[in-house]
Amino acid sequence: MNKTSASVENALERVLVLEMVRVTEAAAIAASELIGRGDEKAADHAAVEAMRKAFDTLYIDGTVVIGEGERDEAPMLYIGEKVGGAPGRGPKIDIALDPLEGTTITAKAGPNALAVLAAAEEGCLLNAPDVYMEKLAVGPGYPEDIISLDKSVTENVTAVADAKGVEPSDIIVCVLDRPRHAELIAELRDLGCGVVLIGDGDVAGVIAVTDPETTIDMYMGSGGAPEGVLAAAALRCVGGQFNGRLLFRNDDERARARKWGIEDLNRIYKLEDLAKGDCIFAATGVTSGSLLEGVKRLRGGKMTTESVVMRASSGTVRWIRGEHHID
Ligand code: FBP
Repeated sequence: MNKTSASVENALERVLVLEMVRVTEAAAIAASELIGRGDEKAADHAAVEAMRKAFDTLYIDGTVVIGEGERDEAPMLYIGEKVGGAPGRGPKIDIALDPLEGTTITAKAGPNALAVLAAAEEGCLLNAPDVYMEKLAVGPGYPEDIISLDKSVTENVTAVADAKGVEPSDIIVCVLDRPRHAELIAELRDLGCGVVLIGDGDVAGVIAVTDPETTIDMYMGSGGAPEGVLAAAALRCVGGQFNGRLLFRNDDERARARKWGIEDLNRIYKLEDLAKGDCIFAATGVTSGSLLEGVKRLRGGKMTTESVVMRASSGTVRWIRGEHHID
């Protein structure tokens, strides 16, 4: 089979899975130069530029469906931008990306900053507007629909505790540390739950529910909708359940959603609604955290990276440690 007749499915399988890591590695390495330097914008810019350039090395006809913003807001990796080295020739792939998930984390040298992307066949990733999303997630192994954004915090925690065979007070919940979550945190504390408050980075926060080593059972609270799609792509690959509901602060945000084809503004999105069909999730650590080690600069002109790449159709998860030479 020649390249032009390759099906998208094969392209995802045979070419892209490992190649995607080059793209997240490039962004993470570029951002890592600015860890702890107090400059969010410079760190983000470095990651964006490096990711944009790395895409050119891939044989794809890619389209950014979740990116740095709309065309008039972002010079690079804007929504609708074509990426990849084979426009009009390569397989058509939709890409959701965040070259630096955790700009503040990087500026402050905190944990869990990532360079991250998800790739799927054309039309398979939700074109989420840049608004907030209410998120609720639980790891794999629970009965279908054990959690729901239509239920109260207490009902969701109790359901998970019952299924796990423990008390609600044994449940550990990860929440973004924000004033808007005061009521949520108070309800969790009333139940006696352990609340893991994170400063930023809810892609890693949501994925943490899939890893028993984190001891985190559930993720709750609102964060960016684009980050919700990225986290959902990862959960599609490794298992778990997710509910997301867009939150609008004004008419402008509602109009944005309608522009991207979203009609039911109160819809609860599950994993398949956010990332359907086959999809790939790739991430490289910028700073070390619950998911990945960060970029480490060693003596002798070397640096190391840690990345993960997963694929929904096979459920394969590959952990990749890279050794790079600093020019
Ligand atoms: P940035 O990398 O864009 O700074 O996003 C970090 C983040 O913490 C996301 O992980 C999360 O979804 C969002 O910000 C939460 O938004 P806010 O800081 O407005 O609560």
